[in-house]
Amino acid sequence: MARILAVTNQKGGVGKTTTSVNLAASLGAAKRRVLLVDLDPQGNATMGSGVDKRTLQATIYQVLLGTESLATVRMRAPAGDYDLLPANRELAGAEVEMVDLERRELRLKEALHAVEGEYDFVLIDCPPALNLLTVNGLTAAHAVMIPMQCEYYALEGLSDLVATIKKVRAHLNPDLAIEGLLRTMYDPRNTLAQQVSAQLLQHFGDKVYRTVIPRNVRLAEAPSHGVPALRFDKTSKGAQAYLALAGEMLNRGESGA
Ligand SMILES: Nc1ncnc2c1ncn2[C@@H]1O[C@H](COP(=O)(O)OP(=O)(O)OP(=O)(O)O)[C@@H](O)[C@H]1O
Ligand SMILES: [Mg+2]
Repeated sequence: MARILAVTNQKGGVGKTTTSVNLAASLGAAKRRVLLVDLDPQGNATMGSGVDKRTLQATIYQVLLGTESLATVRMRAPAGDYDLLPANRELAGAEVEMVDLERRELRLKEALHAVEGEYDFVLIDCPPALNLLTVNGLTAAHAVMIPMQCEYYALEGLSDLVATIKKVRAHLNPDLAIEGLLRTMYDPRNTLAQQVSAQLLQHFGDKVYRTVIPRNVRLAEAPSHGVPALRFDKTSKGAQAYLALAGEMLNRGESGA
């Protein structure tokens, strides 16, 4: 059975998509079977995987509304060893259209059932909001992975997210776990980042990944070429950090931690 992880943080620009794409590529390189789900109307994970979002006939939008099956809409990512369920701006409409549907919070979970057995990991790139799309991601997932920048307001944002996770547990997904917190765009010379990082470790302990993602220009450049950093510059610090993160995840899983 696949381990389904929602990569989420309602704060924008913290590295959700960069993490989703590069982790999918890294787990794929480690011979794990991966499905990357783009759950964001911005379609950044789609573009970053080498798929032009403007040319798509069908996307996750049709899957959520139930007019296409996930198995027919998913595709092999041209830029990595993983499958992709793509998205584009059409998905923004789903927010509104799903409101009248039955079991509207369960649409993604139910769509994933049919293909779950084909994967080791499903990574869901959530939008920067606590909306119905994100609730679908949190309801479908076994656990959440939270990328965050070690900034002044980061911990405050985290308590909103933890409150949302608790709500989802109470109503929709009692077993939803916190898989881990990931420090992104980390600059070790920045004193504030060091302080926030220390607080994070104090509050969340082992839930914080030991692997830290440094600020690295290759990670920012790769999407404009439609590839993960692993494909763009494998030796870059960014690509290596995500390979290390995949290694840490796989080790944790195998040691049962
Ligand atoms: N480690 C990094 N080093 C340098 N730049 C990075 C790094 N991680 C992400 N970026 C850049 O920061 C910006 C935001 O990253 P990303 O799109 O992954 O965040 P996001 O949380 O998915 O954003 P959104 O909330 O809009 O979906 C992008 O331009 C990305 O290329
Ligand atoms: Mg994003």
